Amino acid sequence: MSNEQQYTFSKEELAEIEKIKAKYPDKKPPVMPVLWMAQEKFGHVEPEVQRLVAETLDLPEAHVYGVATFYTQYYKEKMGKYVLDVCTCLSCQICGGYDILHYLEEKLGIKAGETTEDGKFSIQSVECLGACGYAPMMQITNDVYCNHLTKEKVDTILDDLKKDKLPEFEQIPFPQHQNESSKS
Ligand code: FES
Repeated sequence: MSNEQQYTFSKEELAEIEKIKAKYPDKKPPVMPVLWMAQEKFGHVEPEVQRLVAETLDLPEAHVYGVATFYTQYYKEKMGKYVLDVCTCLSCQICGGYDILHYLEEKLGIKAGETTEDGKFSIQSVECLGACGYAPMMQITNDVYCNHLTKEKVDTILDDLKKDKLPEFEQIPFPQHQNESSKS
């Protein structure tokens, strides 16, 4: 018997996918939300999952592969419980993004693109996450942003995550709101 996991969508999920498809005049746009739905369910979109999405949307696998591999937010393989996306794009790079990345690699004993043996952490080096003014920064598992990182802050974040405590989401205020608060 094969150990390969069989990936399927439930009747309810297929009904949801039909609703997504109905919003668009073409077959291709639903790829992103359906890949996301698949990742929420399976925890990743490895090739078998991409195949399921392609078959469900009646699209070539190559198209789904192209979308999945364009975005680091889609996990193309099984990842750790906490995926640490360290931004190494220009602003973060200038402000020490690679120092943060290398510090994390050293602390966790893995390289970017790898997962710790206990399955708790993966590290990725990613492109701009839109928080350039708060560099260097990282995102945790497509969710919480941690800004203005220092080695000390990384130590605290890792200690907390080891205890399954997620850091608070660091809200990024819009400039107009910053001006408003500086007036008051
Ligand atoms: S360069 Fe890092 S968030 Fe934009």
